[in-house]
Amino acid sequence: MFDRKAYEERVKWYQQDRFGMFIHWGLYAIPARGEWVRSTEQIPEEEYLPFFDEFNPVDYDPKAWAKAAKAAGMKYAVLTSKHHDGFCLFDSKLTDFKATNTQAGRDLVREFLDAFRAEGLRVGLYYSLIDWHHPDFPHYGDAHHPMRNCEAEKDVERDFNRYLEYMHGQVEELCTNYGKLDVMWFDFSYGELSGEAWKATKLMEMIRKHQPDVIIDNRLEVSGEGFGSLATADPTPYSGDFVSPEQIIPPNGLKDELGRDLVWEACITMNNNWGYHSKDKNFKPASMLIQKLVECVSKNGNLLLNVGPDAKGNIPAESLAILSEIGAWMKKHSASIYGCKGSGLPKPENGRITQNGRKLYYHIMENAIGSVPLYGVAPQEIEKIRLLEDGSELALAKSWMVGNYPDIAFVDISQTPYLPDPVDTVVEITLK
Ligand code: GLC
Repeated sequence: MFDRKAYEERVKWYQQDRFGMFIHWGLYAIPARGEWVRSTEQIPEEEYLPFFDEFNPVDYDPKAWAKAAKAAGMKYAVLTSKHHDGFCLFDSKLTDFKATNTQAGRDLVREFLDAFRAEGLRVGLYYSLIDWHHPDFPHYGDAHHPMRNCEAEKDVERDFNRYLEYMHGQVEELCTNYGKLDVMWFDFSYGELSGEAWKATKLMEMIRKHQPDVIIDNRLEVSGEGFGSLATADPTPYSGDFVSPEQIIPPNGLKDELGRDLVWEACITMNNNWGYHSKDKNFKPASMLIQKLVECVSKNGNLLLNVGPDAKGNIPAESLAILSEIGAWMKKHSASIYGCKGSGLPKPENGRITQNGRKLYYHIMENAIGSVPLYGVAPQEIEKIRLLEDGSELALAKSWMVGNYPDIAFVDISQTPYLPDPVDTVVEITLK
């Protein structure tokens, strides 16, 4: 039976923190064509293994990563401990295909966890249910395996239960050898491989035994497509704790079938790849990502923003610049993000609204001619108005020009045609 009281307690911090860093890193950073390169190019194991021998992230400095995430205003971070290629960034006793056996010779996960905790961030691990390296994971005929079309693999005997023992064993290693985890981010279910095909109830019992407070995504049941049983009136034991829309922000937020707000987190790349892609320079501007963070929160969701470090262990300069610019905005405006959610008001045409109790944060993203209308807010509801970035008082506009619209509060912010913050000027309204 789904314990909703325990659930709501478990996700409280998550709904306060709102903004996290996703980190996709591994051997695929060497070919530098994204984390799916083995599958999309159907690379046989023997052509991929040389990357294992070569992997030597001489610049890996998780402390620097943690500082960059913190400065950006991120409150938690999730690192790939194992992606679909099966390469383990942690010192698993169940495989030799791990970072400690490469020239790196380090437990990259342990160093990540130590560094981010030291900066006061909560920590999570992504773990791929899919494993293209393990001999007992389906190869020929699978939807995604690099050898899915290889006839030579057609009649090879595979024992999926032996893979499940391996997968459960590794998850138990992560849950018992690395201290308190705040997030477990599984990825992903497809076709027959969903729910009990992963022995998910048994997996969840083990996880909850070791990490009772950890929150888990919904991909033991679905992928980024589908919501899973968390969106129903009767979630399964492996529903997870949040829905994980990928490369999209739910158009109208998300509610379960009983109309209750769903806990959700949009995971979004800065360019168009999760893993490092040396040719993909399609980075989203910080201004867009700030507005998307606000959009997520205005719809009761979180944003997990991805970086893909290169083979040497460096977060790309473009990503660092974006993080720094987001951080500058967050430094002045994080009160309109942390602890906030949607207001229930319709989206105003000049921006978005987030709310935290009696504080309504009106995000003005389009200036007005003359006084700025605060759609949805009536003058008599307002106790005081402040410009969030500097705490300065803003007065309700009383000019004759707004006299025809007594039900809408108008505020005078700038005498110039420009708003104080070109990306998002936040007005903090304290409601009576
Ligand atoms: C998709 C991709 C995977 C990525 C994940 C992030 O599932 O397959 O590469 O890690 O999205 O959400």
